Amino acid sequence: MKVLQSRSDWRELLAQAHALVDGETDPIANAANLAALLFDALPDVNWAGFYFLKEGGLVVGPFQGKPACVRIALGAGVCGSAALRRETIVVDDVHAFPGHIACDAASRSEIVVPLLRVGAVIGVLDVDSPCLARFNVADREGLEAVARLYVDSTA
Ligand code: SME
Repeated sequence: MKVLQSRSDWRELLAQAHALVDGETDPIANAANLAALLFDALPDVNWAGFYFLKEGGLVVGPFQGKPACVRIALGAGVCGSAALRRETIVVDDVHAFPGHIACDAASRSEIVVPLLRVGAVIGVLDVDSPCLARFNVADREGLEAVARLYVDSTA
């Protein structure tokens, strides 16, 4: 049986995430540890990590998974679309998302959460799965909380 992340699973994971960044403000260190935590703790995930907005485009940051596209233009793919719209995008089937950028051919579903600092996008948090429709409402809420935690930790 496939185990999805329930709200109570997420409460535990968020407590671990808080503990990881507690007392640390370094943006690379916190992104690296949060990516590692998500990749290790979430079932059925093949990529978890960050892209940061630099000179008008997204550039890959700390992540776990196969090597990824380094630069993504605003508005391109799921990541660039979430950054441009400043809203979370959940894609149940990446093959049905026009312009999806395939970094790992195994990816079938994806969630991208924008990192917002005072309303402005500073990057995105991206998680991919080899399973169709992997990400539910609890995952969305959980990953949005991780994104807020990351931004607050590095303020
Ligand atoms: N699939 C993403 C690209 C990033 S990789 O998944 C790590 C997209 O379409 O933006």
